[in-house]
Amino acid sequence: MANVCVITGGGSGMGLETARNIDKDVILVLTGRTVSKLEKAKEQLEAEGHQVHLIACDVSVRKDVHELCLFADSLGTIKTVIHAAGLSPTMADAEKIIMVNAVGTKNVNMEFYKYMKDGGVIVDVASSSAYEAPGLLIKHQIFEEAEYKEDAFVRHMLGEANLAGDDYNKSGLAYCLSKNFVVWYAQKCAHEYGPKGIRVVSVSPGLIETDMGTQEVEKSEFARQMIERSCEHRMGKAEELGFAIATIADARNGYLSGIDVLIDGGASTGKKS
Ligand SMILES: NC(=O)c1ccc[n+]([C@@H]2O[C@H](COP(=O)([O-])OP(=O)(O)OC[C@H]3O[C@@H](n4cnc5c(N)ncnc54)[C@H](OP(=O)(O)O)[C@@H]3O)[C@@H](O)[C@H]2O)c1
Repeated sequence: MANVCVITGGGSGMGLETARNIDKDVILVLTGRTVSKLEKAKEQLEAEGHQVHLIACDVSVRKDVHELCLFADSLGTIKTVIHAAGLSPTMADAEKIIMVNAVGTKNVNMEFYKYMKDGGVIVDVASSSAYEAPGLLIKHQIFEEAEYKEDAFVRHMLGEANLAGDDYNKSGLAYCLSKNFVVWYAQKCAHEYGPKGIRVVSVSPGLIETDMGTQEVEKSEFARQMIERSCEHRMGKAEELGFAIATIADARNGYLSGIDVLIDGGASTGKKS
C-alpha cells in the first residue's frame, strides 16, 4: 500500500511548500476550504512530479475532518499529517480564530489518530505568538475542555480573548491563546499517541512571507517589530519553513516528539536581548 501525506492548508503558503519537500512516491492529499486554490496547487505539484489528490474540508467542522480521513485512508496508509490550516488576527474575528486554530487542531489530531499506525507522524503548525500569550490567561483547565466539552472550551477561550480592547486586539489575543493551545495539545497528544508509535510535534514559525504573514506586516506594528528583532532583520521564507516542516516529519527524525520547534529567525531571543 502506498503511503499518504495529508496537508491541511495545503493550497498555499507553508502547507504548499511542505508538500514540495515530501518524497514523490508518497500520495499527497491537499485540503482547505477553497477548491480553486487547491486545484492550482495540485497543478503546480503534479508538474513537479508529485501524485496529488484534493478534497475540500473546513477543519473546524468535525464531520469534514472525518470525511477527509476516510478519503485519505481509501488511498493508502496515512503516514504523515501536516496540519498547517489556520487563520491570523487580520483574517477573522476572535471566535472564528478559536474555532479554526484550536478546535481545528483538536479535530485533526483526534480524527487522524484513529486511522494512523506505528510510524505515523502529525505536525501541528502553531506560531511564535503562542509564547506571547499572557501567562495569567493560559489556563490548562480550559484547554482540557477541548476534547469533551467543545462548547464550554470555545466560550471560555472567547471570554479570555474578549478581555482585550478592540476587535483587532481581541483577534490578536485569540490567536496567541489558540496557538498556545496548539503547542500544549500537540504535547498532550504526543504522550497519548506515543505508545501506538505515532509522533506528534508542533512547529512555531515566526513571521513568514506568505499571504498571511504579509497581511500581518501591513496591519500590525508588532509584526513589523518582529522583523527588526530577528537576527537577519527579515521575514522567513515559506520555502524555508516547508523544508523544516518536511524534515521534522521525516521518519529519520523518529525521536522528535512531544516538543515545540520554534523557527523564528531569532526574533524571540532578539526580544529578550
Ligand atoms: N505566515 C506567518 O507569518 C505565520 C506565522 C506563524 C504561524 N503561522 C501559521 O502557519 C500556518 C500556515 O499559514 P501560512 O502563513 O502558510 O498562510 P496561508 O497561506 O494563508 O495558509 C493557511 C491555509 O489555511 C487554510 N485554511 C484557513 N482556514 C481553514 C479552515 N477552516 N479549514 C481548512 N483550511 C483552512 C487556507 O485555505 P482556505 O482559506 O482555502 O481554507 C490556507 O491555505 C497557519 O496555521 C498560521 O497560523 C503563520
